[in-house]
Amino acid sequence: MEQKPAEQKPVVFSGIQPTGVFTLGNYLGALKNWVRLQDDYRCVYSVVDLHSLTVRQEPRELRENTLRSLALLLACGIDPEKSVLFIQSHVHTHAELTWVLDCYIPFGELGRMTQFKDKSGAHPENINAGLFNYPALMAADILLYRAASVPVGADQKQHLELSRNTAIRFNNIYGDTFPVPEPLIPKDTGRVMSLQEPTKKMSKSDINPKAYVSVLDRPETIIKKFKSAVTDSETEVAFREGKDGVNNLLIIYCAVENLTIEQAEAEFAGKGYGEFKLRVGEAVAEHLRPLQERCERLYADKAYLGECYRKGAEKALAISKRTLEKVYKKVGLIVP
Ligand code: TYM
Repeated sequence: MEQKPAEQKPVVFSGIQPTGVFTLGNYLGALKNWVRLQDDYRCVYSVVDLHSLTVRQEPRELRENTLRSLALLLACGIDPEKSVLFIQSHVHTHAELTWVLDCYIPFGELGRMTQFKDKSGAHPENINAGLFNYPALMAADILLYRAASVPVGADQKQHLELSRNTAIRFNNIYGDTFPVPEPLIPKDTGRVMSLQEPTKKMSKSDINPKAYVSVLDRPETIIKKFKSAVTDSETEVAFREGKDGVNNLLIIYCAVENLTIEQAEAEFAGKGYGEFKLRVGEAVAEHLRPLQERCERLYADKAYLGECYRKGAEKALAISKRTLEKVYKKVGLIVP
């Protein structure tokens, strides 16, 4: 198929927080999709460091994690020549559009966000206004680039709904300004589950490090974590209701080995859980190995990372400034 010129392709936007490690959930739920979309869409991807400030960060650690996140995105296959890749705080339009949008989002709608409820429950000592406003910043991220699609995991669906409502509300008042963005959530890997409590989402903030796999975990650590993954009291490796642990492992295995569930079930027919879990661990470790090697090389090359984020910010600013000015004019601000 002939490639369309970049400006005719629909826009995709997504972001990832640079807090701690990237988990296998982030990778299979979002990042693999980000990479895949680069040929058919005009992709804009961001390390959303401003979002991370909603939870207290150690400044030196946040700086390191931000650069490592950038290196990881490049290592996963985000190509800075094809896609716009930048660090959110480098592009001032994000904070500016957030303020305007904040004035068009009802308090009640923000208060209903389950992530706000969960995070304020987890950090009762720091329930700050940023945590509450978080989805407004997310809406600004997306709407600034007039994104049509947003590749995310299932946990971001509610935030996406708020972005859509905000775009619709603004368009209703001021006329067509923003495309209404669609979530792109993978059917199988949209919700990768904890290895220890497979009815819960795999999360890097889990207090039990055995519950999640970091994409930078050493191969032996990955294998160990899979060996201790919680399954069930049966013996059959099959995908069906009630077998949350096994289902999760099958989904992970199929994603890294590019298999269908039926193929994986056939491979493990008559085999025990021990052998199955070991094989999933090995497959994940093998899949991540080249990515880890690339990440290490890229992280060491600070000059390249600097060049990459400066160029990315320039491109992101050029696109987003046009939207911000349009919005400012529509609401009655004087654009100098
Ligand atoms: P964050 O940084 O928590 O996660 C990044 C992406 O990883 C997905 N994800 C998962 N997918 C499947 N299974 C899991 N267990 C799993 N855990 C995480 C998330 O859904 C997400 O797609 N608010 C966002 C970042 C953001 C953003 C945006 C996203 C800021 N602005 C604009 C899209 C558009 C977040 O905290 O993602």
